[in-house]
Amino acid sequence: MDVMEKVVALCKRRGFVFPGSEIYGGVGGIYDYGPLGVEMKNNLKSLWWRWMTVEHDNIVGIDGAIITHPKVWEASGHVKGFVDPLTECKKCHHRFKADDVTGQLCPDCGGELTEPKNFNTLVPTELGIIEDEKVKTYLRGEACQTIYLNFKNVVNSTRVKLPFGIVQIGKAFRNEVTYGNFLFRLREFEQWDLQWFTKPEEMDKWYDYWKQARMDWYSGLFTHPDNLSFHQHEKLAFYAKKAFDIQYRGQEMEGIHWRQDWDLSRHSQFSGQDLTFEGLIPWIVETSGGVDRTFLFLLADAYTEDGDRIILKLSPRIAPYKIAVFPLLANKPDLVIKAKGLYEHLKPLFKTVWDDRGNIGKRYYSQDEIGTPWCLTVDFQSLEDNTVTVRDRNTAGQIRMPISELDSYFTEKLK
Ligand code: GAP
Repeated sequence: MDVMEKVVALCKRRGFVFPGSEIYGGVGGIYDYGPLGVEMKNNLKSLWWRWMTVEHDNIVGIDGAIITHPKVWEASGHVKGFVDPLTECKKCHHRFKADDVTGQLCPDCGGELTEPKNFNTLVPTELGIIEDEKVKTYLRGEACQTIYLNFKNVVNSTRVKLPFGIVQIGKAFRNEVTYGNFLFRLREFEQWDLQWFTKPEEMDKWYDYWKQARMDWYSGLFTHPDNLSFHQHEKLAFYAKKAFDIQYRGQEMEGIHWRQDWDLSRHSQFSGQDLTFEGLIPWIVETSGGVDRTFLFLLADAYTEDGDRIILKLSPRIAPYKIAVFPLLANKPDLVIKAKGLYEHLKPLFKTVWDDRGNIGKRYYSQDEIGTPWCLTVDFQSLEDNTVTVRDRNTAGQIRMPISELDSYFTEKLK
């Protein structure tokens, strides 16, 4: 089994990710996050949000709707241009994205392939209940469009000045021809986007700044940052001067896009509204990443085996639980009462889990597998001197520490 297969199995077994609508046979390219997955995903999103909006003075956020006016997707170019060429094998009828196959023969059975046909990947929907009055629109194909739609609202309601950013984390929907590879290519997924508005003469400077800043941010989060790299695009949109992806082991995770004045100009033209600000249509540097892809790559990067022990060496900041609290023996009331007291104390401060099943070794293994960075054990010595053992996930090393020092110890570790 390769690492990805092991990660998929772990996700199901321990409640990170489940196939969508599984009891009905599933829906391809759609997944649900389980109890541990939602904790980790929320940690990840709040780190990104905090970095963007707290650590930068000039970035504000929005949370736009998934359904927009249908004209948005004409203006954005998606109705005409958001297409994937699809080819089908005449023998086994497997379908492929034409860009993914080289040559005329089916990669699965060697059969002849049909001429590629273009399919639009927007997901259509209808609003309204009366047949003749229904309006056809689309679930948003990329989250960023609602940022452009709210550009005027944001500048009119805040005190931002160029250069500044608007960020959003939100769902996007695509009828991908070749969904698959678990969370890698989904039909419903989440994006985290920054749209950075600048004067044209500062575009180069800001493009380079955000390209590096985003790489540094990801590097601080991955267990093995040397698995990250830049990939430069050769084929560019006509308005783009350059384009780079941040990749994890050669697979795209985030795009750093030179969008120039394309989006605001198009929406200005299609809506008839003046979208100039400080005397011009600002130019845009976009950083657009996939939350689900990042989640998947972080798990794969953290997955470690040591004999029969599985360890998720996740950054403590994104681990679903930070701390596990155990009584050494579950049948000794003094130990259980003291450990419960500690658990109740830590619970509101750090995401903490209680475990008193089986023996202590099994509990350690169980926490290692879900990435819990620290396990605290209340033993007989704890009853005497108010200390506990603190066991480190990555090294399995243990130290003894006074209970009174735990809050500041973990606060410091999680900074
Ligand atoms: N607004 C720009 C935009 O949407 P994109 O390169 O199409 O650009 C940005 O998407 C990021 O969204 C990608 O780098 C990828 O991480 C994620 N993404 C795109 N399509 C995806 C899909 N079908 N499933 C999961 N993530 C996807």
